[in-house]
Amino acid sequence: MHQYEISDLITVVEPHSGRRLPVRRADVTRLLRENGDRRAARIVAELPVDRDGVLDPHAVDRLLISVHTELQRLSEELRIGERLIHVLRPLFSAIRSTAGAPSGPYRLVDVGCGLGYLVRWLAATGALGADVELVGVDLDAALVGEADRLARAEGLDCRFVHGNVFDLPEAATVYVSTGVLHHFRGAALTDFFHAQAASPAQAFCHFDIAATRLAPIGAWVFHRARMRHPLGRHDGVVSARRAHSDETLLRAAAAPGIRPLLYEPRGSANPFCTTLRPVIGVRPHLEAPLRLALGRAARRLVGPEQPAEAAR
Ligand SMILES: C[S@@+](CC[C@H](N)C(=O)[O-])C[C@H]1O[C@@H](n2cnc3c(N)ncnc32)[C@H](O)[C@@H]1O
Repeated sequence: MHQYEISDLITVVEPHSGRRLPVRRADVTRLLRENGDRRAARIVAELPVDRDGVLDPHAVDRLLISVHTELQRLSEELRIGERLIHVLRPLFSAIRSTAGAPSGPYRLVDVGCGLGYLVRWLAATGALGADVELVGVDLDAALVGEADRLARAEGLDCRFVHGNVFDLPEAATVYVSTGVLHHFRGAALTDFFHAQAASPAQAFCHFDIAATRLAPIGAWVFHRARMRHPLGRHDGVVSARRAHSDETLLRAAAAPGIRPLLYEPRGSANPFCTTLRPVIGVRPHLEAPLRLALGRAARRLVGPEQPAEAAR
């Protein structure tokens, strides 16, 4: 059975322009019911529509902004920012130290940034250094608009762009994301990594939920405790169920000119924690300097040829 997240169904945009397309509520509830997810169908049935049965885009935007605000609190609690710089700082050190790498300034692009928590956190802490420009990109105009508003209110030195990340005029040095990979299924996941490999980027580092057996239970407990809206609770659990396996991620990330690596593979992670961990892709010459910059933590980095146990 296909697992659908409600938020993926109630906002539909043109993949290149990011232009919003109308969504008929009855189409979404039918799809969810046919898929056996009556609870999700009931949540969608509560959303307001116009006379033609099309979901009210403003109501949907308000709902998604409030769900993502709750998600941001979860990111704060799970100290996602700290987890990210633990890997990103050594990655930028490796890029800086490599003779063949382009000289700064560098650009970090957060793919599918939502409310831009990660980019705003990096801007507020200055954790990556002044030579790293921070950019968040999202196809969802309402979320990225709110990210921009929050960054201005906080007086932060970062930018937010509405659109498809792969249509940006400026190249990224490093692509990052949080909680985005499981939205790409099958060939779309491979295409996602190949597009980055074909760009001038030096590396990517995408964090998503580790696919442990207990991840859906952990997600249920966490989202139940911390999220009020049933949509957020529903999608939180479904995203843990949809998490890609380590093998799938390493296979998809093995794009031409990229050395795929997984940080904290399943065997080394605590199965009782629902945790985000990254699949990393670097240009091959960056692997050795990255391991050096990571120090002892480099033990937790494995490639497709190494068993997960190697990282214990
Ligand atoms: C689940 S949200 C993740 C939000 C955010 N990263 C967080 O952790 O809260 C996934 C986002 O990815 C965006 N997205 C998917 N493909 C994209 C692309 N090619 N370019 C820009 N944004 C994209 C969607 O619009 C959606 O808002």
